[in-house]
Amino acid sequence: MTTGYTEHNKMSDVIASQPSLLQMISRFGIQLGVGEKTVREVCEASKVDTTTFLAVANVMKQGATAAGFYIDKIDMPTMMRHLESAHEFFLDFQLPHIRRKLLEAIDCSRQNEVAFLILKFYDEYMHEVRKHMEYENQHIFSYVKRLLAGEKVTDFRIGQYSSSHDGMEHKLQELKNIIIKYYSPNEGTSSDLLCYVLFSIYNSEADLRAHCDMEDSLFFPAVQLLEERIANNQFVSNTGAENEDGETLTERERQIVACVVRGLTNREVAEHLFISINTVLTHRRNISRKLDIHSVSGLTIYAIVNGIVQIDEVSLN
Ligand SMILES: [Fe+2]
Ligand SMILES: [Fe+2]
Repeated sequence: MTTGYTEHNKMSDVIASQPSLLQMISRFGIQLGVGEKTVREVCEASKVDTTTFLAVANVMKQGATAAGFYIDKIDMPTMMRHLESAHEFFLDFQLPHIRRKLLEAIDCSRQNEVAFLILKFYDEYMHEVRKHMEYENQHIFSYVKRLLAGEKVTDFRIGQYSSSHDGMEHKLQELKNIIIKYYSPNEGTSSDLLCYVLFSIYNSEADLRAHCDMEDSLFFPAVQLLEERIANNQFVSNTGAENEDGETLTERERQIVACVVRGLTNREVAEHLFISINTVLTHRRNISRKLDIHSVSGLTIYAIVNGIVQIDEVSLN
């Protein structure tokens, strides 16, 4: 791992070295403004497991070959929070954004059949991605949480899912090709906008590929290792108490708390974290339930005491 990122690198150098890492730090809940701090210093200040951060960064940098070193070292809750944040980004922000731009770019108003079919193709694709990611959120992550709680689960193995895990990006590739080959813009249609949509599709395709590669090369093998350790009685759960009391906030919930106590409205929180307002509201309900705190003033005290924000960052209005 000599050419990979290390905990001693400056976080600013790591982020600047490749654009995809910008999205990654947001998915870990790390805010920009990292100054001269190292990767370890920033991760510790953001309460993110440094090894898991480095695992993801190095797999993004070097590909699947970097994953082997980290499979037995990553922190599963951190990894799952990262993957879940990525799902939120795809479902609540990136794919709907591309759809809106696609609608503006292609001429659906003139009964253009190719335009209609392109939109239909895209909607089917979004549906497929949603199904895939919701399955992972609801079934795969809960399965791993059961394993982490030390449960010997007998009715499922990660291999049943990972062996047919689909990258999903091939459909986007197909869509891009259909637009390039068969869609002729009518007069008055902005080709700049259409090129922008195609460019966004390229980015989304690469982003989805990287996400699925991360699951294939790092997450699923780590789950498999966990299964083996549990089967061989080599795993001792240390997360049960934390999960069962229901009081521990997830990384995303901590981000929402930080935004709320800084005075952001729900809409501003949604825009800041690239999620929908509904998702913000769901998180806020969960935060209130877990902490039994229902006011912003109460939340502010919680955030300061737990180091989520500093006193000079909070809104005192
Ligand atoms: Fe996923
Ligand atoms: Fe997946």
